[in-house]
Amino acid sequence: MEFILYEQKDKIAVLTINREKALNALNSQVLDELSQTIDAIDLNTVRALIITGAGEKSFVAGADIGEMSSLSKAEGEAFGKKGNDVFRKIETLPIPVIAAVNGFALGGGCELSMSCDIRICAESAVFGQPEVGLGITPGFGGTQRLARLVGPGMAKQMIYTARNIKADEAYRIGLVNAVYPAEELMAAAEKLAGQIAAQAPIAVRNCKKAVNDGLQVSIDEALVIEEKLFGDCFETQDQQAGMGNFLKKKDDPTKVKVVDFQNC
Ligand code: CAA
Repeated sequence: MEFILYEQKDKIAVLTINREKALNALNSQVLDELSQTIDAIDLNTVRALIITGAGEKSFVAGADIGEMSSLSKAEGEAFGKKGNDVFRKIETLPIPVIAAVNGFALGGGCELSMSCDIRICAESAVFGQPEVGLGITPGFGGTQRLARLVGPGMAKQMIYTARNIKADEAYRIGLVNAVYPAEELMAAAEKLAGQIAAQAPIAVRNCKKAVNDGLQVSIDEALVIEEKLFGDCFETQDQQAGMGNFLKKKDDPTKVKVVDFQNC
């Protein structure tokens, strides 16, 4: 891989977009390598993934403008599909994905962060969908996911004006869950990933699926999705270990509540 770094630390993995000279902009090769790296994640051992950008300046400064500049209509559509397919793969990955946004998250970078389950960022982060200033629409899910995350009114304002926003505003509108000094961001991401990885893995995966799938359908259909995924947790080792631990603790309040969940 030329442009992707991937490191697994016990149950947590960190994927870094590594094209620092171009502020980690996404060209076709980066997208292909990102897709291949996601496909190769060992889902038997990894329970949470962190995605970040190389260097101190940028998460991802967007899709590669040089590569896009000469595309035909058909090629533009195909490039949009390439990005959408990879980001959808991230969104539907069975395990939770945290975007640790360490700088510019513009265009395709903001869109990449929005395909993750959770976004946290450095104080230096800048978010935006500047595409209309380049004569195009957001093309890797921005028109859809930004509206779903921050509401259509705020999303339309950001997209129509191409105005970038800083970390504090991203936090205020609910685009990110937390803001950290740059040097604390990765530790915070790893702590959060560790908290997720310590929970029952089948249950965590089923929660991700329930929220994601439920948001696509009516509340009645969504509750049926929840019931099925709730039922699916029963009779698993993790359910028995988790509930067994609670019941044992009731007999002996001195018992520490640590469960070693084995399943993936
Ligand atoms: N594509 C290609 N190269 C990019 C890039 C991008 N999106 N963003 C930055 N770069 C390159 C620059 O061309 C420059 O390369 P050279 O050193 O070879 O000239 C290098 O990264 C450093 O960038 P700057 O010198 O511009 O750095 P800066 O600190 O002055 O500015 C910035 C930083 C404000 C992020 C500026 O680089 C910028 O505005 N980048 C473009 C942001 C953008 O418009 N993103 C949206 C792209 S469209 C899109 O993503 C469509 C979609 O939805 C799929």
